[in-house]
Amino acid sequence: RVVAVIMVGGPTKGTRFRPLSLNIPKPLFPLAGQPMVHHLISACRRIPNLAQIFLIGFYEEKEFALYVSSISNELRVPVRYLREDKPHGSAGGLYNFRDYIMEDNPSHVVLLNCDVCCSFPLPEMLEAHKGYGGMGTLLVIKVSAEAANQFGELVADPVTNELLHYTEKPETFVSDLINCGVYIFTPNIFTAIEDVFMQRKDRANLRRATSFEALQSAAKALPPDYVRLDQDILSPLAGKKELYTYETLDFWEQIKTPGMSLKCSGLYLSQFRHTSPQLLAAGDDARSATVIGDVYIHPSAKVHPSAKLWIPEQIGPNVSISANARIGAGVRLISCIILDDVEIKENAVVIHAIIGWKSSIGKWSRVQGEGDYNAKLGITILGEAGSVEDEVVVYHCISEQIEAEHGL
Ligand code: GDD
Repeated sequence: RVVAVIMVGGPTKGTRFRPLSLNIPKPLFPLAGQPMVHHLISACRRIPNLAQIFLIGFYEEKEFALYVSSISNELRVPVRYLREDKPHGSAGGLYNFRDYIMEDNPSHVVLLNCDVCCSFPLPEMLEAHKGYGGMGTLLVIKVSAEAANQFGELVADPVTNELLHYTEKPETFVSDLINCGVYIFTPNIFTAIEDVFMQRKDRANLRRATSFEALQSAAKALPPDYVRLDQDILSPLAGKKELYTYETLDFWEQIKTPGMSLKCSGLYLSQFRHTSPQLLAAGDDARSATVIGDVYIHPSAKVHPSAKLWIPEQIGPNVSISANARIGAGVRLISCIILDDVEIKENAVVIHAIIGWKSSIGKWSRVQGEGDYNAKLGITILGEAGSVEDEVVVYHCISEQIEAEHGL
């Protein structure tokens, strides 16, 4: 049997996701109309003999309660949220709940960072992992040399795929092969984490017996029960025939900013073409006159029949419309996420933007971003209940709340 664990983190980690993380935990933010974590849960569902899925984080329990119970029913696999009282680090958090995770005596633990977007080739990875015979297998991908230093950089044996060297976000270039934050472990991972605790204890005792200076530096160090998977486990175990790699040639992105969430929404929409075409709005959808490219429209959204969902070829299709949104006649939507209860009035244009819950965009208005998903101000974002009057242009703007009026 296999269990899956998704590390969802907590509110302090989501600050770069503002203003969108102000009223919803980042893992529940919709990408292609489904909560971010939903894409990971669906991927886990494809693992043979999956017994349970755990979400581990330090968000309030009530924030996940509704989602967890509805998804358990829908997918008919138990999904449970386990709340840490404080952050323990990516490996510490896992260790904290080892009794729950080992409840069903699983042979393997699949561990996923919540903030990644990927095709999650988990069954294939599991097969490869069994063949390697190590304690863990990491999903890895080649990225550009310039981008690599935002991630864990690693070197793998080209023949055996063994992880030979691992450095977390190095200052000088090591490799363009990076850690995707998707892992398969045997239960021995818990012993490896325990070993880190023991070594720390030994070191602390040694310090106590030596100098006052050493004691001071220990005080500045991380809390003793805070263990990071990358620095504290992967780095020291590289080159010891314990860890192996599985390279994906498919898409992979990390979602730290709202700009990246818009990009990833598009990636999941295009994946739906192969995995769940029924979720995509069809060109002849009765609720809309013209749908071009990959578009998701929630069943409760109202799209005026003459509204045009049109995406120029050079950008690529990417529009997702959430529950109870109302889209007026003659509206143009290109590369955007429209959240719940938004109203977009006649002939407004929204391009490269995320429109927050309950916002309203006036007639003939234009809300637009530049379209560079990696740039800080690359997309325009309206937080909750933003209001843009008729005939107003909002360009290049991130706002917790917008009250844009004519002439501004
Ligand atoms: N429950 C819980 N508790 N989750 C945590 C904690 C914690 O104390 N700390 C981090 N996480 C979760 C985050 O929400 C995220 O999903 C994952 O663990 C990793 O977060 P970080 O440790 O902050 O690392 P990172 O995202 O900057 O980088 C990691 O992921 C990259 C891939 O996205 C590293 O493993 C990189 O090497 C890797 O390239």
